[in-house]
Amino acid sequence: MQVAPVTFDSFNALADEEAQQRIREARARLGKRAVILCHHYQRADIYQHADITGDSLKLSRLASQTEADTIVFCGVHFMAEVADILSRPEQVSILPDLAAGCSMADMASLAKVERAWRELATVLDPDEQVTPVTYINSAADLKAFCGRHGGIVCTSSNAPKILDWSFGQRGKVLFFPDQHLGRWSGHRMGIPLDQMPVWNPDLELGGLTPEQIRDAKIILWHGYCSVHQMFQPAQIEKFRTKYPEGKVVAHPECSFEVCSAADVVGSTETIIRTVKDSAPGSRWLVGTELNLVDRLAREVQAEGKSVEFMGGMVCMCSTMQRIDPQHLAWCLESLVAGQVVNRISVPEHEAQLAKVALERMLAAS
Ligand code: 13P
Ligand code: SF4
Repeated sequence: MQVAPVTFDSFNALADEEAQQRIREARARLGKRAVILCHHYQRADIYQHADITGDSLKLSRLASQTEADTIVFCGVHFMAEVADILSRPEQVSILPDLAAGCSMADMASLAKVERAWRELATVLDPDEQVTPVTYINSAADLKAFCGRHGGIVCTSSNAPKILDWSFGQRGKVLFFPDQHLGRWSGHRMGIPLDQMPVWNPDLELGGLTPEQIRDAKIILWHGYCSVHQMFQPAQIEKFRTKYPEGKVVAHPECSFEVCSAADVVGSTETIIRTVKDSAPGSRWLVGTELNLVDRLAREVQAEGKSVEFMGGMVCMCSTMQRIDPQHLAWCLESLVAGQVVNRISVPEHEAQLAKVALERMLAAS
């Protein structure tokens, strides 16, 4: 007789300490059968249980290499999808709370990107002239779109290399969903800003003229991260005035003005490495999500380094935050009982094409 899955309801009211204890017990019973992957933005009460931590590129590489039967992904939806696509067919990918999405990823949908492709076809031949590049922060069907149209996936740590690859295929790029990462990476390659117009999917022909499209090198989707767009150049100016010897590091999802004013721009992994490798006593202003910055500040405090958060107010990735000890305890105890809850399973036809675009990325980076 099949046992009905335990619902989350009975875990919802667990006190944090009890949930933590049950996570520890379930992990001990699961042993190497389950691996917990954690993105750097995870809250501290989840991060402490990670087997592996990393940025999106590192986590997607490791998801393809793990031997565990089950990958419990403490991150957001697209990350668990990537784990499912890159892992072996018998492996299972779990997202502890299905509501942990990425608001930036939701800014581009397959229907809108397909419409853009059709509209571009009224000006040029996109399948001959445009490489579609999707930031890994996107749904699996958009990765599949890139796989189908000779395109590729990128992350915040390999975007310039991926653009190089893309221009080796065709003369133009359609970059979605994050305009900031696309613009900054294009700028680093020497592409003038006026050759990187923004495609607004709510307007006919993206709000562009046929000339703008013909002149463009990179057409940037009108998407952004609501966490990273909170950071302002004025916060950097204030810091520099107060601490002329201080350094600034920012994530490339920040605006062009913030990236231009920073000393270092890079992925979450790069940000952590940069601060950790700096000289004892260094002072840093960091433009990325608060959980990462708080953790980093604590970790380097003993070396006399000071790490300050760029935002004037609390700015966390609210969707990442949804993965809490109660949800993790529920998923792990269910696994102990032989039940899989919150499985992320990308349909086979989509997964195959998305894998093509992801493997192009892994090979090119
Ligand atoms: P990283 O790949 O740098 O970890 O970035 C992921 C992300 O979502 C940043 O907002
Ligand atoms: Fe998405 Fe922004 Fe959260 Fe990163 S910080 S997962 S881009 S909403």
